[in-house]
Amino acid sequence: MKNVILGISGSIAAYKAIELAKLLINANYNINIVLSKSATDFISPLTLKSLFPKKVFLAEGTLDDHDQMLHISLAKQAGLILIAPCSANMIANLSNGSAPCLLTSLCLATKAKTVLAPAMNVVMWENLIVQANIKKLKERGMLIIPPSSGKQACGDNGVGRMPEPHNILEYIASIDFVSYHTLKGKKAIVTAGPTHEKIDPVRFISNCSSGKMGYNLAKAAQMLGATVTLISGPTSLNPPENMELIRVNSAQEMFEAAHRKAANCDIFISAAAVADYKPKSISIEKIKKGADFSLKLEKNPDIIYEIKSQFPHIFCLGFAAETTNHLEYGYQKLKAKNLDAIAINDVSKGKVFNEDYNELTVITKNGTEFVIEKNPKLEVAFKLLCTLLK
Ligand SMILES: Cc1cc2nc3c(=O)[nH]c(=O)nc-3n(C[C@H](O)[C@H](O)[C@H](O)COP(=O)(O)O)c2cc1C
Repeated sequence: MKNVILGISGSIAAYKAIELAKLLINANYNINIVLSKSATDFISPLTLKSLFPKKVFLAEGTLDDHDQMLHISLAKQAGLILIAPCSANMIANLSNGSAPCLLTSLCLATKAKTVLAPAMNVVMWENLIVQANIKKLKERGMLIIPPSSGKQACGDNGVGRMPEPHNILEYIASIDFVSYHTLKGKKAIVTAGPTHEKIDPVRFISNCSSGKMGYNLAKAAQMLGATVTLISGPTSLNPPENMELIRVNSAQEMFEAAHRKAANCDIFISAAAVADYKPKSISIEKIKKGADFSLKLEKNPDIIYEIKSQFPHIFCLGFAAETTNHLEYGYQKLKAKNLDAIAINDVSKGKVFNEDYNELTVITKNGTEFVIEKNPKLEVAFKLLCTLLK
């Protein structure tokens, strides 16, 4: 678990820090929150202290319960400092090495990586002094999450908005991986979610897949530099930004989309829970209730098998969801489909489906086995890709 200091400075975006703090905790980070003096004009310390007891420190904080100097003890504990939102004034203080409050002091006293999420009016953001300060901070090794563009609190339109908390979380989760690994220049296809196999106009056969693992794999591959096409079965997830998304319903449609895209791709990740079978015929009319009823099923195309057979150069990573004999079935599937690697989910007792966390057992084609411990799915995705594609 990583210790993160979440610094909040005086910006109208300070209210978003509550959601960010919750997301960080949910993603297994141990957080302490440090407010600048003016941050308390935007967000109440009482609210923060009620939501995050014993984790909130104010600007004038100097000593903790054990009489330790807070700016030093917090700075030493920190694995990462994230200031979100980061005001123009905070940026200026940091670039000057000024330390008027606890947050600025501990930024000077730490060896931890510091990440800033600037948030301000578009004209302030474009101001040459602000940009010069940003340049200086980047040169000193601080990481800047680019502000997003859009309608601002003051009514202006342009760059300067703090990115959404989930985007900041993704950035934080990627830091350790993105600096050391790259998929730049690679093209990846990721399949995700369940498929719907129609029975009649109102009914279908499907499964419990939420698509979360596949969407996180697509996101991680993209953040590592790959150009990603996500082929998604029906899910309720938000579409990833700046990524080609092909929505499909059935296994046949997923197969056709994958086949269309595969020729010039380098990596194929099959995280979708593709239905093995589909009804042999689809009733045009809604089937009426009557006596006992049985469905005749036929096999769906085996998408990853077909892709690997036709395009042997593609690195193919399959997924297996098993309730028993995980390794044995994993090895069988790896061999039968001639995969480069397989990641096995233990889905016994309802685990994995729709959860935000996952753990995987992975087998590669040369027989190496490794386990990725339980973590948020984005982190699991980074670990999986970085281990297999280093
Ligand atoms: C209503 C209001 C909204 C503000 N919003 C921002 C903002 O979004 N970004 C920013 O850099 N400054 C903003 N400011 C100015 C900062 O709050 C001011 O520079 C303050 O001194 C920042 O202090 P700090 O960096 O120590 O938190 C705003 C001021 C007011 C009164």
